Amino acid sequence: MPDSDSIHASNPSRRRFLETVGKMSFFAGFAGIFASTMRFLLPNVLYEPPTIFTLGRVDDFPPDSVTFLEDDRLFVFRRPEGFYAISSVCTHLGCNVRWNGDRGGFDCPCHGSTFDQNGQNIGGPAPRPLKWYELTLAGGQQLKVNTLKRVSKDFRLSA
Ligand code: FES
Repeated sequence: MPDSDSIHASNPSRRRFLETVGKMSFFAGFAGIFASTMRFLLPNVLYEPPTIFTLGRVDDFPPDSVTFLEDDRLFVFRRPEGFYAISSVCTHLGCNVRWNGDRGGFDCPCHGSTFDQNGQNIGGPAPRPLKWYELTLAGGQQLKVNTLKRVSKDFRLSA
């Protein structure tokens, strides 16, 4: 009866296969460690849109108007008392609300929430009012919004 050494020695293809699997495992492990190390060297930067940005010139907004800025997801109101900005993001699940000039309020097309002219939720599933953002004037003519700074519904920017 042959001993185990003679079995291994007599089966070189099996030995070669096991050596190949061992080398591949070693290099796969090494590659994983190398990839993890390289990933660690890259900074974790989160690219987000700016929170303070220019909406346009004061003259771009006609007197007594409501302007929907789709890309910025907000409404800019120019009233005799001044400018103010209200977010168009519905507080239910984030659809863009629409200004309903006939009713003087906002309607959400997704699930039917309704808001009054100040963005106060008055119907449907929306749990909170729409957000109001701070507006400022840069250079006397450029209207800027800060979407990190919320203001009350009494806010008006005179320009
Ligand atoms: S997202 Fe506006 S009511 Fe649901």
